[in-house]
This record gives sequence, structure tokens and C-alpha cells, in this order.
Amino acid sequence: MTSVDSLSARLAFLRQTLHAHNYRYHVLDAPDIPDAEYDRLFAELKALEAQHPELITADSPTQRVGGAPLKSFAEITHRHPMLSLGNLFDEAGLQAFVTRMEKELADLGYPQGEPLQFCCEPKLDGLAVSLIYEQGVLVQGVTRGDGQKGEGITENLKTVGSIPLRLNPLPDQVMPTRLEVRGEVYMTRSAFETMNQRARDEGSKVFANPRNAAAGSLRQLDPKITATRPLMFTAYQLVEMEGVPVAATHDQAMQQLKQLGFRISEEIACVTGYAGLKHYCDQLLQKRDGLPYDIDGAVLKLNDRRWQAELGFRAREPRWATAFKYPAQEAMTQLLDVEFQVGRTGAVTPVARLEPVAVSGVTVSNATLHNMDEVARLGVEIGDWVILRRAGDVIPQIVQVVMSKRPATTQMIKAPSHCPVCQSLVERAEGEAVLRCSGGLYCAAQRKEALKHFASRKAMDIEGLGDKLIDQLVERDLVHTPADLYRLTFDDLVGLERMGPKSAENLLQALEKSKQTQLARFIYALGIREVGEATAASLAQYFGHFQALREADETTLRGIDDIGPVVAQHLLSFFAEPHNLETLDDLIQQGVHWPEVHRRREDLPLVGQTWVLTGSLESLTRDQAKARLEALGAKVAGSVSKKTTCLVAGSAAGSKLTKAESLGVEVIDEAALLAQLAALETAQT
Ligand code: IVH
Repeated sequence: MTSVDSLSARLAFLRQTLHAHNYRYHVLDAPDIPDAEYDRLFAELKALEAQHPELITADSPTQRVGGAPLKSFAEITHRHPMLSLGNLFDEAGLQAFVTRMEKELADLGYPQGEPLQFCCEPKLDGLAVSLIYEQGVLVQGVTRGDGQKGEGITENLKTVGSIPLRLNPLPDQVMPTRLEVRGEVYMTRSAFETMNQRARDEGSKVFANPRNAAAGSLRQLDPKITATRPLMFTAYQLVEMEGVPVAATHDQAMQQLKQLGFRISEEIACVTGYAGLKHYCDQLLQKRDGLPYDIDGAVLKLNDRRWQAELGFRAREPRWATAFKYPAQEAMTQLLDVEFQVGRTGAVTPVARLEPVAVSGVTVSNATLHNMDEVARLGVEIGDWVILRRAGDVIPQIVQVVMSKRPATTQMIKAPSHCPVCQSLVERAEGEAVLRCSGGLYCAAQRKEALKHFASRKAMDIEGLGDKLIDQLVERDLVHTPADLYRLTFDDLVGLERMGPKSAENLLQALEKSKQTQLARFIYALGIREVGEATAASLAQYFGHFQALREADETTLRGIDDIGPVVAQHLLSFFAEPHNLETLDDLIQQGVHWPEVHRRREDLPLVGQTWVLTGSLESLTRDQAKARLEALGAKVAGSVSKKTTCLVAGSAAGSKLTKAESLGVEVIDEAALLAQLAALETAQT
């Protein structure tokens, strides 16, 4: 073999390997090599291509990073027009759709009494694009435009990881000579949030929703910018395929597309008749908030492609498909006022009071404005018309001001100089966006929140001490510090609203019961900034008894695995505050206690062992698992090696699992981990 041959072979090997990994990653959601290995192969390919530019192919994975900027997009006429869909909004519309189709099909000779089969999928809220492949290679990508003519955005689309640059052959190595496929380009909500957060930090353009972000990203003349945007492509229509017979039904055609290398919706389902469609639409609406991307409805398609063709089109819509629309995730309303709320740590947050409005099926009258930087960024004033967005399980957000509707008299939103609850000075720390009330526990709002946290289930777990009760206790000056809770009497309690003698008795008992606790819970209950459950557990385990934590200096704190400089500083400040120390002594005086553990590290059961966590765990976070393993003396590492004692493999575990297996490292699942932790932890106490 000549060196040219071996070079070509190596290039082909690298491209094929990267292509296969890309498919596993983007379409199957099942990567099986570490990112670093992918990067290494990619770098090798890039280096070889740099030495031999004449050997670069259009479908080489290196061509995804974005080519030279364009001056404008070319206008391209669609071979098959890109239509839109009719809309339905309710059961009556759905019923009419089915009845109409039954009639039209009957007129065309559809067998009488034969139930209609439909294929349903989510209506993704992004942008439609059409992709053309010749001899298996992507040659053109076009926007919908006006449906007849669109813009050629091939270079931008090549940067989208889930768009194959080259197709996988179908069984028996057959490759379509020509393929036209359509689908939606969109962004997941989490990718959108991350991208926006970065933009906010950098002071660059923030998008109102994932759809606008996807649109803005595709419209870039510089494909290198598009390449940095987390876009996804999901195929939903096989328009034409030459050289290979197209499947007879839509759902089978979707399976062909998947084999060819496209991501298709995970929510595709085939159903029968009106009842099946109705059930699908209801179910998908139920799932809507939990999906990782925005959808604005369900698309209902007659499954049989031959009958689709018979039905054909009317004006600009197919007769064989329609969209069942869901309530919009955005709505316009008026900002009536802004109030400032004080949280547990004193953060003073602007909260928008809105003219109530329905957004994705829920009436919303409040929305957080996060902080004054966000207020400034939005340029929002009281009285403005705003666009409110409620998507997924995140709290409603104001995403935009409708400037064209700004009333003559709007009012600036001013940051308060004093706490709206306790009148203490409001401060803004250097480099922080958040305003903070300096009142500490003098501030009733902070006190209430601190007490709510103290009583909560994962903290002292005081049953029956709910938010409303705490509000009353603070407002009536019955409780200032958590220790005061333990001084409450029957008489104090029965005097409160909605508190009968029986409930008062129960609460006193719950308080008594809560005194017997665990060190980790107690530390967590104190509500020290950034000290969550996992950190509290590590601290408890590390120090074993409270006095040691109380007296710890910065060096000691920083030496603990989980503790960074910020948390260390919060701990030091907390224990430097005389009021806090008084309250701590008082709590102990009142009888709060926990089993003290005096232990030398060397005695911990997992000392000397190295554990690795991979895949996703169901019942605890990675951080929690790590903290608990470390608390037992184990070292928790990020990658598998010969030295690894045990690999915990959660669901969808990938390359680490393969590696552990090849090295003969012990592998256990989540259930086994939980069992081991429980056994070892009990042995400790
Ligand atoms: S099928 C001829 N399926 O909806 C039928 N469209 O009004 C072609 N869309 O802008 C459309 N998800 O981008 C179809 N699963 C899906 C879809 C979908 C979103 C969009 C499409 C177009 C609009 C049609």
C-alpha cells in the first residue's frame, strides 16, 4: 500500500469513527466513548486535513465547525412547497377533523368501516428546515421562507450536531440517491437557559425564548457563531427518497429516517380514530411541562402514505394532517407594581405584581424579576405591557417589554435603600447582583424564613409547624430565635389562629421530639449560607462533634473535600457572630441534642478505597452520593483506572462502565450502593 493509500484509509477510518460516535451521541443518546477520546480523534483528523487540504470532503466531521462568513443567503425554490398545518384547539375541532377526513376518504374509495390510523407527534416549537442529500451526502439546507422559496443556510445547518453530514446506509448497504427530509431546528430549554445565563453574565444579547434563540442562531451569516449555539434537529417528514422504496406508513418512514441517521421524536405514537387522537393529545399535554423542549401542540397525521397522497392538499395545508394546539406559553399583560421580598439570607428580590393572565393553562399574577440587573436589562417600568412566559416547571418570567404599547406615564422601578420589612439598610456587595437586607435575624422576614428552614423536614423536622404558624409566631413576637420555639407553652399556642387545644398539644410534642436529632440535620437547620444538606453531612462526618466545627479555622475548613472558599467564609462569618453563638448555646440549653461521634479518620470503613460514580442516579444526587462515600472515608474520583476499588453505575452509564469492565473493576448498581451505604452508616452510629 502506498502512503497515499494509507493516508486515505486513515482519513476514512477517522471520519467513519467520528460519524458513528456522532450518531450514537446525537440520535441514540448513548455515547460510548469519553469526550476526550472523541476530541483526540477529531484533532488527528483536523491535523491530517490541514496537511492535505485537497483531501477534505464536504461530509467530513471537521466541516461542522463553521466555514467562512457569507454576505447573504441564497434564495432557493423548494422542489416541494413547505406547507403549514391547520389548527384545532378543542374536542369539537378534533371531532370535526376526523369526520371530515372520513368523508373525504370515503369519497376517494377508502374501504368502508376501516378505522383510520394516525401517527401523532409533538409540534416542536422551533423552525422548519428542509435538508437535501445526494448520494448520502448533505448538499443543501433551506429555511421554510414563504413556503415556496426559502434561504439556503447549508453552512449553518452543517454545524448542528444532530444533522448528519452523511447518511448511514440502509440494510444491505443501500443508500438513497436523493433524499429530502424536513424537520424542526430548536433548542432544549436547559441549553437555552445556560446560553442565556452566559449572555447575561457577558452582557450580550439575551433571547426571550428558545424559539427566538434558535431563529437568531440560524440567521447568522457567520456559521462560526451558529456553531457555538446548542441547536438540535428532529426530523418529522420524509418528503422524497430516490433509489430506495419509501415505507408505506409515516411511522415506518420515520424509522427509515432514524436508520439513516436522523433524530426522530421519542413521543411518536400510532393511534386509531377520534378516541386514540384525543387520548394522545391529552397525554402529551400532561407531559408538556416535563419535556426538555417547548412544544406548542400535537401534530396528527394520517399514517398511510398512499392515502395521504390521495387526500393531497388544500390551499396551503395538507388534508391529511393537522395541529392540535395547546394553550400558549407566552401572554401579554400589564405590570401593576413591583414589591421587594426578603428571603432567608436577606436577599431582597423584586417581585412583579401583574394583571392576572392565563399562560399555558395557569393564571399568573406574580413573577420574579430576579434582581435589579434584570430590571435594568429588561428596561421595564411599572405600568408597562410585558410578555410573560411560563414553560416547563420553571417559575413564570417576564421576558420582554412591549415598548410599542408603553403608556404615557410609567414609573421607574427603584431599588429600596432600606429593608421593606425591618427598615435596616439594604446593601449590595461588590460584584453581586443581589441586594441584601443588613438586618440579619433582627429582620422579621429573615427570621420567618430562617425559622421555616429550621423546622423543615430535612432540618429539625418539626411536624405541624407550618409557614402560616411561623408567620403568626413572629408577628406576635412570640419567637425571635429558633431556641424560642422550645420555650413555647400551651397557652402561647392555643391563642393562635386555627390552633385548637389538640393541635397545640401535638405541636408541643413534635417540638419535644425534634430535640433528639442528628448533627448533620442540626448543622443544616442553622441555615448557614450555601450549606445545604450534602455540605452539612460532610461537615458532620468530618468533625464528628459540633464544638470542633464551631472552632474550626479557615485552613481546616478548606481542607475538607466539599468546602470551597465561599462556603468556608460563610461558615466563619456565621460562627463569628455573637448572636449566633448565643442562639446555639441556647438551643443546646433547651435540650437539643444528637449522638456525638468521636472518630479518627483512619478508623473509617472505606479509608484507602477509591470509588467512581457514573450514569445517573435516581434517589440521590451525585454530590450526595459522593459526600456520603467520603464521609465513610472513601476517595471519590472522576475516572476509572486500575486503582479504582468500585464503580457505581447509574442508568445510561457509558464509557466508564466499559472501561471498568475491561479492567475487571468491581461494578455495582444504585440499589447495591444504597444498601452498602446504609449498612456502613448504621455501623458508624
Ligand atoms: S408536519 C405538511 N410535524 O409546524 C406537513 N410539522 O404548520 C408538514 N412542526 O412550521 C408539517 N413539529 O415546522 C410537522 N412534528 C411535526 C412538527 C411540525 C413542528 C411545525 C413545522 C411548521 C409548522 C406547520
